[in-house]
Amino acid sequence: MIKIFRLKNIISIKDFEREDIEYILDEASKLEDIAQSRDISEELKGKILGLMFFEPSTRTRISFETAMKRLSGGCIGFTSSGSSSVSKGESIADTAKMFEGYSDALVIRHELEGVSKFISDIVDVPVINAGDGAGQHPTQTLLDLYTIKKEIGQIDGLKIALIGDLKFGRTVHSLSNALCLFDNVKIYLVSPPELRMPQEVLHDLDKTSIEYEEVDNIEDIIDDVNVLYVTRIQKERFADINDYLQIKGAYIINRKMLEGKDLIVMHPLPRIDEIDGDVDDTKYNKYFTQAANAVPVRMAILKTLIKNNPK
Ligand code: CP
Repeated sequence: MIKIFRLKNIISIKDFEREDIEYILDEASKLEDIAQSRDISEELKGKILGLMFFEPSTRTRISFETAMKRLSGGCIGFTSSGSSSVSKGESIADTAKMFEGYSDALVIRHELEGVSKFISDIVDVPVINAGDGAGQHPTQTLLDLYTIKKEIGQIDGLKIALIGDLKFGRTVHSLSNALCLFDNVKIYLVSPPELRMPQEVLHDLDKTSIEYEEVDNIEDIIDDVNVLYVTRIQKERFADINDYLQIKGAYIINRKMLEGKDLIVMHPLPRIDEIDGDVDDTKYNKYFTQAANAVPVRMAILKTLIKNNPK
């Protein structure tokens, strides 16, 4: 286990080595008691987190805010381009420079890939990518890994099915990259042909020893997996709504399919119809726990980056 976390910014999970991931997961488990008991620590007293959300969010924004408040810090920010002066024509660069003046770290969500990286190049405070278009969502991946480790006890040796919109789903891009850092993991990529994992991500997988297989049907793999990681079809990223309507509802997980299986069901959420409500009160449902795990994991991220990089 490393004693120092190397990264100043969290832009892509591809910047992580296994020991960086383990550092954050370890810190998160130390902070879990505070998060679970709704307590407060004074680790970031007087610090301010800037939340620049150009694209909608429930979990990511609110859990970052909760994490900062549990560490006794404060938050500023906006929840859409329309509620900032970007709507008057101010540039992203100028907006970021303003936030740099007011905050100790920035969390950015934007519909365009690369915006967080661009901002990290022009400000001195730590920058966290909270989702950039169909690119990456690295802090979601950290809480996904935390959940898998907590629920199953290990990540090495697992068989994990990534299901749904693998083309536009940034969470599955980041998670695939991260799983390459663990031993003897097999990934099943389950999607309709139109929503296959992008070639760029497959090339990343090919550069490692990870085993993966593209499949069309959940039924072909459900008896062989430890984790079903289900994702939403990303309606907002389709150029033609008819293409979305043809694919919508392609994969729906229900209680009957899961009966007798030894696996957990995860989802980064929001869900639309891809996990039936009858799964919610079964032992398979780990998606709400996964969302709650965002708080200790994001506490660990904020504590680490802000303490390591004082203004
Ligand atoms: N998982 C996730 O990123 O959810 P939000 O879009 O609600 O932040």
